[in-house]
Amino acid sequence: MRGVRIRPFEEADASVVAELSNKNAESFQYSRVSPEFLVSMVGSGYQMFVAEKDGSVVAFCGVNYRNNPPEIGPICVSSGLRRRGIGRSMFRVVLDFLTKKQKCVEVIIKVKASNTTGQAFFRSLGFLPIGDLKINGEKAYIMAYNPPCGEGRP
Ligand SMILES: CC(C)(COP(=O)(O)OP(=O)(O)OC[C@H]1O[C@@H](n2cnc3c(N)ncnc32)[C@H](O)[C@@H]1OP(=O)(O)O)[C@@H](O)C(=O)NCCC(=O)NCCS
Repeated sequence: MRGVRIRPFEEADASVVAELSNKNAESFQYSRVSPEFLVSMVGSGYQMFVAEKDGSVVAFCGVNYRNNPPEIGPICVSSGLRRRGIGRSMFRVVLDFLTKKQKCVEVIIKVKASNTTGQAFFRSLGFLPIGDLKINGEKAYIMAYNPPCGEGRP
């Protein structure tokens, strides 16, 4: 999308990202996050990226690569800017980030069963369900994506 730049999270983004996350809390594990919590999460095995449009942060995507396979999420795009490819672009940036560390990487995501938009989004990227679990007592799916070896991009 024109005018959108994806870059690593910086401390100065924390308030906007926390606000965006809290507005969409029904989709995520945490019902409320603080800017301080986000800053403390990033580093040693957890990275976050943000999408900026015209200088404002409008989306974010985290990735936990402490474990194998790495887990992408949470991912969120500001409600007025959805269906314009920002989510897909952030996913590609995260995948590039991971494939620089490890050549052929499987990634997983966890998405609540009630979040049909999230499932449609991940399916469109090539994720397939591989199991289920509970998130805060709610049914959720684990979905996995295996990029073609050596390519690392959907
Ligand atoms: C899920 C989310 C991140 C998608 O971001 P997005 O920028 O709107 O997604 P994209 O525009 O890149 O969409 C890529 C593809 O995903 C699919 N998709 C996305 N939203 C969809 C919807 N509401 N219904 C059906 N398919 C959808 C489509 O195939 C789409 O391609 P198309 O627009 O060419 O048809 C966004 O809807 C969001 O922030 N939701 C709230 C938070 C959330 O649920 N996160 C996921 C759980 S962690």
